[in-house]
Amino acid sequence: MQILFAFFNSSKYNEYVSEIVFVDTYGHLLGGKPMKYGYFDDKNREYVITVPGTPLPWINYLGRNDMYGLISNTAGGYTFYKDAKLRRLTRFRYNNVPRDFGGRYYYIKDGNTIWNPSYMPCQTELDSYTCRHGLGYSIFESSKNEISSSLLCFIPLNDNVEIHKLVLKNNSSKLKTINIYGTTEWCLYNAVDDSSNFQRNYNIGEVEIDKNTIYHITEYRERRNHFSFFNVNRDIDGFDSDLDTFVGKMNSWTNPEAVLKGTSFSSKASGWSPIAAFRNDVKLQPGEEITLIYLLGYSENDKEDKYLADGSINKKKAVALIEKYSTLESVNQALADLAQQWKKDLSTYQISSPNKKFDRMINIWNQYQCMTTYNLSRSASYFESGMGRGMGFRDSCQDILGFVHIIPEKARERIIDIASIQFEDGSTYHQYQPLNKKGNADVGSGFNDDPLWLVACTSAYIKETGDLSILNEQVPFNNILGSEVPLFEHLTRSVNYISENRGPHGLPLIGRADWNDCLNLNCFSLSPGESFQTASNYDSHKAESVFIAGMFVLYGKEYCELAKLMNKEKEVREISRAINEIEKSVIKNGWDGKWYLRAYDAFENKVGSKENEEGKIFIEPQGMCAMAGIGESFEMPKQAIESLEKYLLCDYGVQLLTPCYSKYHIELGEITTYPPGYKENGSVFCHTNPWIVIAETLVGNNEKAFEIYKKYTPSFIENISNIHRSEPYVYCQTIAGKEAQNYGEGKNSWLTGTASWSFVAASQSILGIQPTYDGLIINPHLLKEFDKVKVVRTFRGVVYTINILNKYSGIYKMIVDGVESKDKFIKYDNKKTTVDVEIRL
Ligand code: GLC
Ligand code: GLC
Repeated sequence: MQILFAFFNSSKYNEYVSEIVFVDTYGHLLGGKPMKYGYFDDKNREYVITVPGTPLPWINYLGRNDMYGLISNTAGGYTFYKDAKLRRLTRFRYNNVPRDFGGRYYYIKDGNTIWNPSYMPCQTELDSYTCRHGLGYSIFESSKNEISSSLLCFIPLNDNVEIHKLVLKNNSSKLKTINIYGTTEWCLYNAVDDSSNFQRNYNIGEVEIDKNTIYHITEYRERRNHFSFFNVNRDIDGFDSDLDTFVGKMNSWTNPEAVLKGTSFSSKASGWSPIAAFRNDVKLQPGEEITLIYLLGYSENDKEDKYLADGSINKKKAVALIEKYSTLESVNQALADLAQQWKKDLSTYQISSPNKKFDRMINIWNQYQCMTTYNLSRSASYFESGMGRGMGFRDSCQDILGFVHIIPEKARERIIDIASIQFEDGSTYHQYQPLNKKGNADVGSGFNDDPLWLVACTSAYIKETGDLSILNEQVPFNNILGSEVPLFEHLTRSVNYISENRGPHGLPLIGRADWNDCLNLNCFSLSPGESFQTASNYDSHKAESVFIAGMFVLYGKEYCELAKLMNKEKEVREISRAINEIEKSVIKNGWDGKWYLRAYDAFENKVGSKENEEGKIFIEPQGMCAMAGIGESFEMPKQAIESLEKYLLCDYGVQLLTPCYSKYHIELGEITTYPPGYKENGSVFCHTNPWIVIAETLVGNNEKAFEIYKKYTPSFIENISNIHRSEPYVYCQTIAGKEAQNYGEGKNSWLTGTASWSFVAASQSILGIQPTYDGLIINPHLLKEFDKVKVVRTFRGVVYTINILNKYSGIYKMIVDGVESKDKFIKYDNKKTTVDVEIRL
C-alpha cells in the first residue's frame, strides 16, 4: 500500500490549510477526514489530479469541432467523429470491471517492470503520478525506476487527429534499454453494432499495414468512404493489429503477451478485433530523452475518390495529415493555437472577485463545461454511453443559454438545426442524431415544454448579438425540403402549440413529460423495460403542468418582445392575452397556499400539494413561476421561495421534491421508480438549482442566492471529494439527497443543463450583467462580504470593464465613462470599442 498525500482546505474562503491526509493508491481515505484528490492550478487553467484512484474516473474532453475524445485521469475513454453512436473510432466496453478500462494505453517495458504513464491498465505502482486536465488537453506525468514520462493528449483545432505526444527521459546514471508500445483498439464505427452484432463483426474487421501506420478500413469496401489510422512518427521495431494475438490467450490489456515477452507478432487482423500496436525498442543514455508522436486520425474521401488508379485505397489525405503532425514543432504549434483559441473564447467574460472558488468557476471551468455541453448535448460521457441519446431539443436549447456569449455564430447554426426538427403544428422531435441531423423517431415527440425552449435560446442569441436577421432565416419543418418558413414562424408555432393545448384548469397540457422527463402523467406502465417516455397507453388530454405554465409566461413575454421588434401586432396581442389567461390560471388553480403546485394528473388530482402524502412540494414550478413573476402582487414568488427553503434545502443544494416517493405510483411514472433521494425522486437535481439562485436574487435575497450556489458548485465542495466523488471541476446532474443512502454523492457529471443555467445565474443574476435587445442591464446581487468585483465583458465587440463597489452608500449608482447614468441600463453603441463602468452599491 502506497501512502500519498493530499491537501484539504478549511471552511473559510480562500484560505488553504495544508494538512497531510493519507490515502492509499486507490484514493481510499485512511482516517476519515474530508479530502481532495488534487488541486486547481488556476494559472494554467488545469485541474491537477494527484492519485490515479479517484473515487470515480475523473474525465476531460478533447476536441471541439468534428472529432472528440473522452479521456479519464488514467487515459481511459474513446474517440469519435461527430457522432458517438454512428461514427465511433475507438472501442469502449461498458459495465466493465474496472469501470474505466480501455483507452490510450502506452506500455514501457524496462527490464522486468512493465508500467504505463497513466497507471492503467497494468496498475504498476508508480514513483510519481499526476494527471493535468486542461482546456481540451490532458497531460499525464509520471515516473518509474528513474524513467520519467509525459503523455500529452489533444485534438488540434481544425484537424481530425488525436495527438499523443510521449516523452520519456532516463534520469538514472545507467543506460536503459526499453520497449515502448503504443496501442489503440478500433471500434467498427457504429458503436451499437460494434457491441452487439458479433456474428457479423467477427468477420468484417480489416486493416492495411503500411510500415509505421495501421489503417482501419473495415467496411471501406462497401458503403463507407472513411477510415481511421494510427501512426507513430518513427520507424518501428514491431507491430500487431489483431487483438487476440497481441494480448494472447486468456490475457488482457493488463498483461498483453507481446509486451510481457518484449516482442511483437506482426499479426494482420482479419475479422475479430482489429487494433494497432506499435513497438519501439529504445536505448536511453543517462539524461537522454526521447519523444514519440502518435496520431490517431480519421480520414474521409469523396465517393469517386475512394480508390487510386491501381485499385489501392486512396490515403492521400491521411498521409498529408500524418506529415503535417510528424514534427515536434507542428505539434507544439497546434497546442499553442488551441490554448490561444481558448484564451480568446474565455476572454468574453472574466471576473476578479474576493473569492477564488467563484472566479475559477466563472473564468474557467463553468464556461468550459458550457462549451462541452454545447458540443455534445447529452450524447457521450461516462454516464451517457454515446449509443443512446443524440442531441436533445430542450437540452441543446438550454445549453445555448450559457454558451451563446462564447461563439455566437455557432449558437446561430445550432438554433437552425434544432428548429429544423420541429413539426408544422409547433410540437417537435425530442432528439436528433448529430451526424445526419434527422429527428429521432424512436424517442418521438410530445414533450410539451420543448417548443418553449426554442424561444428561450433564440431570444438569448438575439440579445447577445443584436442579430434579428436570424428570425428571417428559412427553416424547414422535420427537415422536409420545401417546407421552409422564417424562423420567427417556428417561434410563433411554438407558443401557439402551448396556448392551444390547455387542460381543464386552463394550464398547459404536459404531454409525455415537461422538463422532468420522469413525471409521466399520461403513461401507465406495467411492463418491465418499457420506456416511460415513449409508451403511449393512455393519453388523458387532461394532465397539466404548472411548470410549463411558468415557462409560457416567462418565454411568452420574450416572444412578444421579439414580435414587437418584428412589427407583428396581431401575434403580440394574441400571445399577451394567452399569457394573461395562463397567469390567472396559475394563481387560481396552480397555487397550493404556500407554494406552486407541480401539476394535475390524468384524473385531475393535484401533484406537489400539501394534500399529497409524498411529493408534497417540487422545486421546478417554484423556480420557473418565480422567475416568471407569477402572482407577484400576492407575493407568491417570495412565499414559494420561503417554503422551498424550509422544506427542500439540504447540505448540497435544493432537493427536487420532498418527501420522496417510497412506492411506485403508476399515475406518476418513472419519477417514482427511483429509490428515495436519487435522480428525479428527491436528489439535488442540480440543473434546477440555478433557477432558485435567480429567483432568490429577484426577491432580493442575495445572501441566500450565493449560499445555494455554493452548495452544489463543484469548486466549493472540492474538499469533500471523498463524499461528492464526482469531478470537482464540473457540475454533475444529480447529487444524492438527504433520503438517499449515499447522501452527497454526485452522478452524471459533465453533460447537464446545470452548466448553462449556473453560468446564467452567476453571470446575469449574481454579477447582474444582462444582455438585452439593445444593450446591457447591470444589476448585481452580491454577497455583503464582497467589497469589490471587477468584470470584463465583451459584448458585440465592445469591451466593458465593470468595477462593482459593493460597500458604498447602499444606493445604486452607475457611472459610464465618467458620466453618471440615470438607470441601470447601458445602450449598446457600436462606435465604441471600450466602455468603463463603475457601479456603486
Ligand atoms: C436530464 C435530461 C433533461 C431533463 C432532465 C430532467 O437531464 O437530459 O432533458 O430535463 O433530465 O428529467
Ligand atoms: C431520460 C431517461 C430517464 C432519465 C431521464 C432524466 O429521459 O429515459 O431514464 O431518468 O432522462 O435524466
